[in-house]
Amino acid sequence: MRLPLLLAAAASAVAPASALQFLGVSESVAEFGTAIPGTWGVDFYFPNEATISTLISQGFNLFRVPFMMERMAVGSITADIQSGAYFKNYSSIINYITNAGAYAVIDPHNYGRYDGNVIQSTSDFGTFWKNLATPFKSNSKVIFDTNNEYHDMDQTLVLNLNQAAINAIRGTGATSQYIFAEGNFYTGAWTWNTTNTNLVALTDSSNKLIYEMHQYLDSDGSGTSATCVDSTIGVDRIIGATEWLKANGKKGVLGEFAGGPNSVCYSAIQGLLSHLSQNSDVWIGASYWAAGPWWGTTTWSSFEPPSGISYTYYDSLLTQYKP
Ligand SMILES: *[C@@H]1O[C@H](CO)[C@@H](O)[C@H](O)[C@H]1NC(C)=O
Ligand SMILES: *[C@@H]1O[C@H](CO)[C@@H](O)[C@H](O)[C@H]1NC(C)=O
Repeated sequence: MRLPLLLAAAASAVAPASALQFLGVSESVAEFGTAIPGTWGVDFYFPNEATISTLISQGFNLFRVPFMMERMAVGSITADIQSGAYFKNYSSIINYITNAGAYAVIDPHNYGRYDGNVIQSTSDFGTFWKNLATPFKSNSKVIFDTNNEYHDMDQTLVLNLNQAAINAIRGTGATSQYIFAEGNFYTGAWTWNTTNTNLVALTDSSNKLIYEMHQYLDSDGSGTSATCVDSTIGVDRIIGATEWLKANGKKGVLGEFAGGPNSVCYSAIQGLLSHLSQNSDVWIGASYWAAGPWWGTTTWSSFEPPSGISYTYYDSLLTQYKP
């Protein structure tokens, strides 16, 4: 039976292919290397505008851009950041992404550490965030990610650092943007309901706080192996986090995930993304780890167009979940 035109339009409007608000990748390269400050083109580099443009044209709208805090705030976590060339290069790619209509996630990729030491001063961390958020405070397509993968830290310190970052960001006048807060234990979704439950106490005056979790699907959950545990491991490892978000009236984003180019991982990732999409009342989106011009063509998790292994294997699956 042929549906009347109006009814058909209404039906397609209520049943979108995906309900996710954000689909993206991490654009990993500015945080590469260990040298501080290091040399551009040798130790680190910046994401590629042309390949970002390719991904945007396919419907990707979230680009998480890691950087190293010691290269931005040189010598001290409270140092000025805006005068440095590293900041200029970084902000140039952030502005490229947001001018193209996508969202850019500002990601200090530091594991809750500066210069190798756990950041203990919430005040210094607040100053760092005040300095960093100020130049982006009027860019509504920027998202602030407090820090990548806190781990082996005091649980109350992780809460307090996140709260200090949130307060400092809002204090600059950046009131419209999302803030992504990460947790301890590498912000793993699979252990969130037993390790990071104290983070429920975070408050945000703008009420745009999102809990960013990461989830890999290999046996130890580290994302170092291309072998996934089994074809349902994506949902199995994330379901507890979904329940935690729902029970506490919170929202989450899956800031990192990946799987090797094989059918077991394919099913696991398909299940994972379908689960996120079906629970879009609490999950706003997901981003794959990782794109970037230095990932090459032999690393399985490379999502860099045109020939990254994960890009060629997973692009057509991921784009089924585009917003
Ligand atoms: C910034 O990028 C320019 C190229 O556009 C490069 O010459 C320069 O070395 C870079 N500096 C840093 C610190 O990233
Ligand atoms: C906690 O999360 C894990 C992983 O998703 C899940 O297997 C487990 O059932 C959850 N536990 C509770 C009590 O919700």
